[in-house]
Amino acid sequence: MKKIALTGIKPTGIPHIGNFLGAIKPALKLSETCEARYFIADYHALNSTKDPAAIREMSLQIAAAWLACGLDPDKVLFYKQSGVPETFELLTILLAYTPKGLMNRAHAYKAMLQSNAENGKDPDDGVNMGLYTYPVLMAADILLFDTDFVPVGNDQFQHVEMAVDIAQSFNFIHQCEAFKLPEPLAHETGKTVVGLDGRKMSKSYGNIIPIFAPEKQLRKLVMKIVTNSQSIEEPKDPDSCSVFSLYKCFADDQQIAALRERYLQGGMGWGHAKQELFDIMNAQLSPYREKFNLLMADPGYINETLKQGSDKARELAAKKIQDLRTLLGID
Ligand code: TRP
Repeated sequence: MKKIALTGIKPTGIPHIGNFLGAIKPALKLSETCEARYFIADYHALNSTKDPAAIREMSLQIAAAWLACGLDPDKVLFYKQSGVPETFELLTILLAYTPKGLMNRAHAYKAMLQSNAENGKDPDDGVNMGLYTYPVLMAADILLFDTDFVPVGNDQFQHVEMAVDIAQSFNFIHQCEAFKLPEPLAHETGKTVVGLDGRKMSKSYGNIIPIFAPEKQLRKLVMKIVTNSQSIEEPKDPDSCSVFSLYKCFADDQQIAALRERYLQGGMGWGHAKQELFDIMNAQLSPYREKFNLLMADPGYINETLKQGSDKARELAAKKIQDLRTLLGID
């Protein structure tokens, strides 16, 4: 029996190269060896956005992004959280097994408290109950599908560990194995994808390169990468250079060695290095960009794909909820 891998994708922000290399590609690789269940976490987005047009558009875009990057809906169960309302029944169940103190320790909530304290605001200013109970909804997403592995970024580890805590507490109280205990799986670690300013690429730093940026915009962004003021003649250090760091994410070993040599020799300006980076990125990303544009021109197809996935996911979920209801005496 294949292990089950599940992850949720929040529909916020345009997906960028950091997401592509750090999350999308590794998750698709994992789907080759696991039974994968990947979903658009649209109700999670409601905690931070109340704009219907934004939620609709972002959900569509993020689904198109994963499909364009190679997610095959015949192999991966690809659905929308909102398309599986059993999730929210499980959320209600799990809330009764979740100590309030556990939620007090969640990083996202604690970060809000701290920022409020720093700004002299009421501790709970801007904290809605959706944000506060976020880890329980996430536990419901995970536990509903007998998940073995949850591929996530480091910032989500704590949430997955909380899902384990909640599952254990439920299993203990009912003296059974109702829930499988999931394991967080680190996205390929080691390499951080740097952004335009040399810091980690992140929407909140405003230093991203979108995966599907049109060619002209891609060139413009690459040319904007921050470098130092060394002249063309001077030898340059590849290992402290953001352009080279990004180049390594796309090039093969031979290409990397060749560019490294040009850095060390001198006689190569930043404009040349950036041109090399643009060329390789554009060559690799063009097919994804084309696929993405085709998909976005046909939202009906995307929605139908998600609907079919959601219907399948619902069947699995309904069975789980039925078993739980029986166990709980709510039948
Ligand atoms: N919280 C995750 C994030 O912010 C998204 C998410 C929601 C998720 N439900 C999940 C991830 C379940 C893994 C499993 O990125």
